[in-house]
Order: sequence, then C-alpha cells, then structure tokens
Amino acid sequence: MLINMDFSSPLSAFLGIIASKVKSGCCLESRENELNIPHIPVLAEETVGSFSGVRNGWIVDCTIGYGGHTEALLERYPEIGVVGIDRDAEAISFCRRRLERYGERVKFVRGSFASRVGEVLDSFPISGILADFGVSSLQLDKRERGFSFDSDTLDMRMDSDSGFSAYDLVNGYGVEKLERIFREYGELGNRSARLAEKIVEARSSSPIGSARRLSEISIEVLGTRGRIHPATLVFQAIRIEVNDELGEIESLLDTLERKRPYGATVSLITFHSLEDRLVKRRFSKWSKGCICHRDAMRCTCGGDHSLGRPASRKPVTASAKEISDNPRSRSAKLRTFHFSKGVGPDVSDTGSR
Ligand SMILES: C[S@@+](CC[C@H](N)C(=O)[O-])C[C@H]1O[C@@H](n2cnc3c(N)ncnc32)[C@H](O)[C@@H]1O
Repeated sequence: MLINMDFSSPLSAFLGIIASKVKSGCCLESRENELNIPHIPVLAEETVGSFSGVRNGWIVDCTIGYGGHTEALLERYPEIGVVGIDRDAEAISFCRRRLERYGERVKFVRGSFASRVGEVLDSFPISGILADFGVSSLQLDKRERGFSFDSDTLDMRMDSDSGFSAYDLVNGYGVEKLERIFREYGELGNRSARLAEKIVEARSSSPIGSARRLSEISIEVLGTRGRIHPATLVFQAIRIEVNDELGEIESLLDTLERKRPYGATVSLITFHSLEDRLVKRRFSKWSKGCICHRDAMRCTCGGDHSLGRPASRKPVTASAKEISDNPRSRSAKLRTFHFSKGVGPDVSDTGSR
C-alpha cells in the first residue's frame, strides 16, 4: 500500500484516438511546442533499448525530470506502466501535463528516490529501474533556482521545500568543511583550502548572496584557464552537498541490493566519476559469485552469490552526433544490470500490469 502517493487522474475515453494521432506523429510536435519541453534526454535510444527484455509490469523512473525518458519508454513498450519519482515539484507538475494522455499507465511520486523507491518496489511489480542522475536543463537554466553561474540567488536545491540551500552552506560552513567538499566533491586538490579561506574572508563583511558573487570569488582563486567555466567544479561540489547526491545514490543501491527485484533490469545514467564509481563498484559486487576473502586458498562460500549480470563491462556513452546536438550528454555514462536471482516473484514475464 502506497502512503501519500500522488496518482494521476484516470484516462479519458478519447485517449485511444489521441494516442493513435500521437503515434502517427501529428500531435507530438505541436504538443512539444506548446509545452516548450526544456530538457533533451541523454542516451535516450540506448536507455530505452536497455529495457528491451521488459515485456510488462512497471518501470520506476527514479528521476522523471521532464519526462523525456519516461515518454520514450511508454511509446516503445505499450504493455508497461511507469512510476515516476522526482523531488522537484515543478518537474512533477510538468510531467503531469506532458504525460496526461497515458492516463493510468503513469503514476507520480514526489520525494527523493532514496526515501521513496523502497515503497514503490513493495507496491508495484517492478521490472525495470531507471535513474538519470543530476540536474535537468530547466533547473540549470532557471536563474531563480540558483544553479547557474550568473544567477542572482544562491540556492541549488532540487527540492525547493528542503531546508538547506547553497546560501546556508556557503555562508555557514567553516573553512574545514568547505575545504572537504571542494576536495572530495569538486576534486579541486590543493586549491580547495585556498578557495575555502577566500570564501570565509569574503563573507566576513557581508553574506555571499548570489551565485554570481560565488563565481567571481572562484575565478579569483582558480583563474580562468581551460575550456570549462572555472566555477564548474565549485558549483558541482556545492550541489552534491546541498542535495546529498552521492548519499542518495548509495541509498538507492542499498535498497536494490536488499530487495533484489528478481528479473528486473536496472539502468543508471551518471554524469561524473564520483557517481559512476559508486554504480560501477556496486554492479561489480552484485556480479560476483564468490564472496570469499581474496586471500582465501579456495572457495568455501558456495560460489552462488551473484545477483545477476551487468549488460556490459564498459558503460555506454554518447555518440559524437549526440554530443554535438546536446553537449550535456558529453559526460553521460549508462550502466545496466540484470537481476536474475533474489527474493520476490520473477516479474520478467508475469503479465501483471
Ligand atoms: C537529469 S534530470 C532527469 C531528466 C529526465 N530523465 C528526462 O528525460 O526529462 C534529473 C532529475 O532528477 C531529479 N532528482 C535528482 N536527484 C533526485 C533524488 N535524489 N530524488 C528524486 N529526484 C531527484 C531532479 O530534480 C531532476 O528533475
């Protein structure tokens, strides 16, 4: 039983007609113009293709965002439904409009995937799990969300109701804590301490109130060399901390490890090495049959601990064409794992949606 879950309204009777028009392509273009869809899904073809073994049941899209991947899944696999999670209220209300025509095939859950995915797995016969981590183009482009370098605010919360923002972090953390996040999440090495000290010095006269001011301070310390904006890694570090992005991923992987959704496909898209490392290591752990200590002379564990297999050893990355059409795809890595063993019913062929 889902608690406090927010379901979309029932499908209207004329949906079939609309759906067939959309399939023929006639409505899709005008609807997209009307909705002004702000985000191009990365690796869309590859991601949808990774679920080709899923014939029915539900896919949980842990980061539904602006619904690009979800819509592509619903179009490609007419027998499935999608439960879409997002902690951004704007994203959920956008998807309600965008995906309205799929009626009961889409359910929405507002919240962080770490806190909500467990109950979704308990409530639906889930045959696929998708997550496209990171921020959406709309979050980046909307200046008032405070994610962009020239923003007048300093916010960076994906969930605008959460109590802790980039402003609180930049004006509240001491030198050591600031240095730690720049070192760990921004991978800024020796420059982390100088930047932390500079921030504390700058805010001593008045609080740092905008992303623009933070960018200026970052440029003063880090210089302007290289092709990417000098504040990119500073903003990445702050965003990761404000939204506990790595903790969320760890927790999602913990839940999947605990629940072991038998027969399900898991496809996860990451955007930087810290995220990818978490996914890669966990998929590798799940693949291992033998869990004996590496110094053990022989296997005594039975050797049957594998939970399934990864689709490939290497991640799928964007083609040159996609990178030129959508530069955000440049750092995207898609990894897929197929659960083949575990608790719960095999949902790969139950016809249960
Ligand atoms: C890159 S966008 C997803 C875009 C989506 N795949 C599409 O095609 O439109 C990432 C989304 O995930 C959401 N998000 C990020 N971390 C989250 C978390 N821990 N829990 C729930 N939603 C999260 C963000 O709010 C954002 O809307």
